[in-house]
Amino acid sequence: MLKVVVLISGTGSLLLSLLDATAKDDERIEIVAVGADNDAPGLEYARQRGIETFVVRPKDFVTRQEWAEELLKNIRAHGVATKDTPGLIVSAGFMRILPEEFVTEVSPNLINTHPALLPLFPGAHAVRDALAAGATETGTTVHIIDAGVDTGPIIRQEKVPVLAVDSEETLHERIKTKERDLLVEVVKDIAAKKILLENL
Ligand code: GRF
Repeated sequence: MLKVVVLISGTGSLLLSLLDATAKDDERIEIVAVGADNDAPGLEYARQRGIETFVVRPKDFVTRQEWAEELLKNIRAHGVATKDTPGLIVSAGFMRILPEEFVTEVSPNLINTHPALLPLFPGAHAVRDALAAGATETGTTVHIIDAGVDTGPIIRQEKVPVLAVDSEETLHERIKTKERDLLVEVVKDIAAKKILLENL
């Protein structure tokens, strides 16, 4: 059984896809908790399913390290990222950079989904940047989080066309459609040991 903690910051549509997919595939994957850096609307999806949630606000801590330590404490309280049960931490629209100490503690069992074809367009405005660059194609990437910003080893990517009429919203929604399926596929393959993160 792969125990998973999902981290979000916003609407949580990627989280919803994971919740729906794993509810059907419950013998191999269990989302044991959902964490956020604010009272994110997406937390409601977990609460509706009786899945525990936790909120660790950066403004409640003096340093980013102390915030990250509290975040990790909450994750470990649900049996993930411990020595015996590493499990998997999935950042799905979690808009915070995790400090190096946190990443080192949990690597490589910490993955992120990013709405661009990394290494193109890293950072918090990937969709806007792809449009501004006049890209005719972009995509979505699932990667291992390392100490950098969207720089960790790439696990899987999917291309998405950019249409001349696209706005940031329409393009991001088209990317998210692919992103949701790709993230579910990668988490399932990790659970089935078809992807070995330690080998990437
Ligand atoms: C996703 O596109 C993710 O890659 C980006 O933020 C979006 C989150 O979408 N970091 P949602 O909150 O899951 O709907």
